[in-house]
Amino acid sequence: MLAGKTIVVGVTGGIAAYKAAELVRLLVKDGAFVRVIMTKNAQEFITPLTLQTLSGNPVATETFNLTQESEIGHIRLADTADLILIAPASADVIGKLAHGIADDLLTTVLLATMAPVLVAPAMNVHMYAHPAVQENIRILGQRGYRFVEPAEGFLACGYEGKGRLADPEDIVEEARATLTKKDLTTERIIVTAGPNAEPIDPVRFITNRSTGKMGFAMARVAWRRGANVTLVSGPTSRTPPRGVRFRSVRTALEMQQAVLSSYDDATMVISAAAIADYRPAHVAPQKIKKQDGAFVIEMTRNPDILAGLGQQKGNRLLVGFATETENVLQNAMGKLQRKNLDMIVANDVTQEGAGFAHDTNIVTLIDRGKRMETLPLMSKDEVAHTVYDRLLALRKGIGESENRGIGDDH
Ligand code: CTP
Repeated sequence: MLAGKTIVVGVTGGIAAYKAAELVRLLVKDGAFVRVIMTKNAQEFITPLTLQTLSGNPVATETFNLTQESEIGHIRLADTADLILIAPASADVIGKLAHGIADDLLTTVLLATMAPVLVAPAMNVHMYAHPAVQENIRILGQRGYRFVEPAEGFLACGYEGKGRLADPEDIVEEARATLTKKDLTTERIIVTAGPNAEPIDPVRFITNRSTGKMGFAMARVAWRRGANVTLVSGPTSRTPPRGVRFRSVRTALEMQQAVLSSYDDATMVISAAAIADYRPAHVAPQKIKKQDGAFVIEMTRNPDILAGLGQQKGNRLLVGFATETENVLQNAMGKLQRKNLDMIVANDVTQEGAGFAHDTNIVTLIDRGKRMETLPLMSKDEVAHTVYDRLLALRKGIGESENRGIGDDH
């Protein structure tokens, strides 16, 4: 995601400075080229050597150091950055930035850069709540600076409240979002994900092998691209993506209700959930005891949620996923037509690297004009990006001509 991006991380003085180590590690792991600037006070909490080792690059600390200036150069740092991330950001650096003060290397680079700046404050709870700090944050927000709000919790200073540096994973996710084109800002997207769990009795249920990875990727990527996202998910072990409205459900009927309650406002529905086609006709009120002989569960049909949405589609774009083990394209095409969809993402789970529990997928996109595009093995995030690219193209009416492949304009 961050491959090929240069991220300048500004570390200021505060106990949370030690968390910059984890942050830099995660950024590098995500493929970013990381340059670290430390203020004088930051070096009281963590050494430049730590961040130099983790970033793989020399750490800049002084504006007027001849060696550093010739090797790194503060204007070069400002110019080459795709993003500047201040984490942790002290009340001091926020105040200086809000008032145009440049009295050390970090604040000088911050004034000189044209790159987006993401600020992750961390400080004592009363400092954070101080009107001067809040006013400075407001000023910077109005100027387009993005913030990752501090978390609530136990602070190193002994107080409890808001002031703890946001989780490094969340800061990295904000960095990704900051660097992602915002072309879905007018979309309100419902994404369904994961399996259903249909109860048999109070302790047993019927489910399937969906892990929710593809649906969560669809929700995460939509949020990064600026959409308003509601993620309706069956039971999974995943943490809800940052920024999305999360609705946790178990059964297909609960999922249907959750989807319908947001459907009026929705502009797109991405149905990535492996929705249970059947549920036990009777749920036993007590745990069922074993008996001699076979045990038969009578099943009753669940509604086809997506087909129902397709009947009252309006201007919405509807996307289905077809997970198949045979006759993949033929089955997928049938579902596209039967459910009145705009696109179906066909997925042969017998292929290596595709399907449940994988981070990658191999899919064929089929759109309402029956145009097919088989994507190479790619991450589920990349699949999600491609699906949204194609949906935007469909919405604009690009690629409506029958004799073009839907991928030709990319
Ligand atoms: N789907 C749905 N409601 C259901 C079953 C499926 O909305 N009761 C949606 C899925 O989320 C998916 C698409 O329909 O986007 C295709 O699901 P799939 O399980 O592949 O197909 P089915 O419609 O169940 O058809 P079949 O059982 O014949 O494979």
